[in-house]
Amino acid sequence: MSLTFHEVKKSFDGVPVLQGFSAEVPLQGLTFVVGRSGSGKSVLCRAAVGLLRLDAGEIALDGGRVDTLPERALQRTREQVPYLVQSPALLDWLTLAQNVALPGGTAAEVEKNLARVGLSALGDKRPAEVGPGVRKRAAIARALMLRPRFLLLDEPTTGLDREAAAQVNATLAELRAQGLGALVVSHDFAAAQTFADTVLEVHRGKKGYHGPAKAFRGLTPLGVE
Ligand SMILES: Nc1ncnc2c1ncn2[C@@H]1O[C@H](COP(=O)(O)OP(=O)(O)OP(=O)(O)O)[C@@H](O)[C@H]1O
Ligand SMILES: [Mg+2]
Repeated sequence: MSLTFHEVKKSFDGVPVLQGFSAEVPLQGLTFVVGRSGSGKSVLCRAAVGLLRLDAGEIALDGGRVDTLPERALQRTREQVPYLVQSPALLDWLTLAQNVALPGGTAAEVEKNLARVGLSALGDKRPAEVGPGVRKRAAIARALMLRPRFLLLDEPTTGLDREAAAQVNATLAELRAQGLGALVVSHDFAAAQTFADTVLEVHRGKKGYHGPAKAFRGLTPLGVE
């Protein structure tokens, strides 16, 4: 069970971003995706759920092509693999529990998913009454209502203070323990070494380091192909 990228190519206005990126990402465990700003990490996430189309190459989820799916079929992909952007919006006039309920589902499921991210006690709060780490976890709980097989999280801790970031990372570790894996785009190498199973680097449009998080020593120098 994996999300696979095969010789993926994508340029914007003639400027190549992904230039033959290939990698197999297991749906189990936490894969942290690292790479310089502008290297194409967000492009990879968006392409994985058909939010942008490739120039060449293939993306497959459990062996089934994603990159060629028609928009209608992609709705299902986006339920199986929700993509959380860096600042997923909560509706500020709703409580956290009401926000989590937005995709649909029973009250019991809302309660269960608040519990999975450690927010059982805060469901009645409104977004403005809680910190950014809690808001981010509520957004994750909302994605859990889709009963996903895997999560794509784009910089879930960027811009958060240390405490909020620690809360979010602990939540990812907890979800992983519950059997839910994720691809996590991150600039936080310390977190990668602490929380990730695998680090996958985007380097000059291709796969750079790909291996155990504990052995990751930082980004590949720019001069190295
Ligand atoms: N829709 C688009 N139109 C034009 N250029 C784009 C588009 N999306 C991405 N790009 C360009 O592609 C490159 C990679 O963008 P991407 O957002 O994937 O980088 P990133 O690795 O996520 O960087 P960061 O760490 O800053 O988030 C950048 O140069 C960006 O400007
Ligand atoms: Mg990005």
